[in-house]
Amino acid sequence: MDRPALIDRTDALSARPWRRLLERALGAARDVPTMLSTEEQKLYYWLAGFWAEGAGAIVDLGCFAGGSTARLAEGRRVAGLVPPIHAFDRFTADARTKEAILYRQGVTPFEGDDILPLAQAALAPWAPGIVFHRGEIDRMDWQGGAIEVLVMDASKTVESGDAMAATFFPHLVPGGSLVVQQDCLHWSQPWLPAQMERLGGCFRPVGHAPRDTVVFLCERVPGAQELEAARIAPFDDAALDASLAAAGAWLAPLGLAGRIEQTRASLAANPGKRRAFQFVKP
Ligand SMILES: C[S@@+](CC[C@H](N)C(=O)[O-])C[C@H]1O[C@@H](n2cnc3c(N)ncnc32)[C@H](O)[C@@H]1O
Repeated sequence: MDRPALIDRTDALSARPWRRLLERALGAARDVPTMLSTEEQKLYYWLAGFWAEGAGAIVDLGCFAGGSTARLAEGRRVAGLVPPIHAFDRFTADARTKEAILYRQGVTPFEGDDILPLAQAALAPWAPGIVFHRGEIDRMDWQGGAIEVLVMDASKTVESGDAMAATFFPHLVPGGSLVVQQDCLHWSQPWLPAQMERLGGCFRPVGHAPRDTVVFLCERVPGAQELEAARIAPFDDAALDASLAAAGAWLAPLGLAGRIEQTRASLAANPGKRRAFQFVKP
């Protein structure tokens, strides 16, 4: 009798298995303020808890007050993984963000814009497994070896997206690393799906968590010349739109072609814009 084939851990992502998790599985991580949707929170926990094997670091670009890192850290804890989680951010929040995100999620109002102490306190339950990196990620280096899960939520300008890809993508492992593009489908960052499509020979889209996250498997590590050729900053709107059209076809098997059409409409309504905060929703 034939045995049923084992489901590959990466192929399993297309079925969004994290949706079956009860919210309480996330434990103390649920108490840490976040901008993530509920499903995205479960995805992060699931990736660290059920997908990762401890073959490299987990890197969180855009930790904010600790929300994404906490979901990853709780997954890491239950899986008994050894490599630490590296949390990158400039760790500041303006008055509007404090009001709209932090205070609404129970943080006591505080003076100033420094949120590193807040993130450190919120992530204390998972210490010492978290390494904080404060600063402009575009100007930072990575010396931490192989990266197994790379979460990207700080590519808010086209230059940042190019710089972070150049710094971190060379440390991915072919067939063994995921890139989680948190805002890949957000209408204010058209350079993200375009960039991944430009590197389509190196990555395969393998999962989606609403609202805006797309997960990519690294199949081949892009070389320096490929990364240079995939830089989106030099693109004019027509070239960016052409890459978006190609990205729509590429992401269609995940049911995301319509989302990319929305991003194209947003680009058309925001000509020449290359910073997320400049975009106005069409
Ligand atoms: C959308 S928030 C991240 C939300 C977070 N992952 C969560 O779970 O709530 C984006 C974060 O990226 C950070 N960021 C954006 N661009 C950055 C840069 N160039 N260098 C460092 N941090 C940056 C911001 O400070 C902000 O905290």
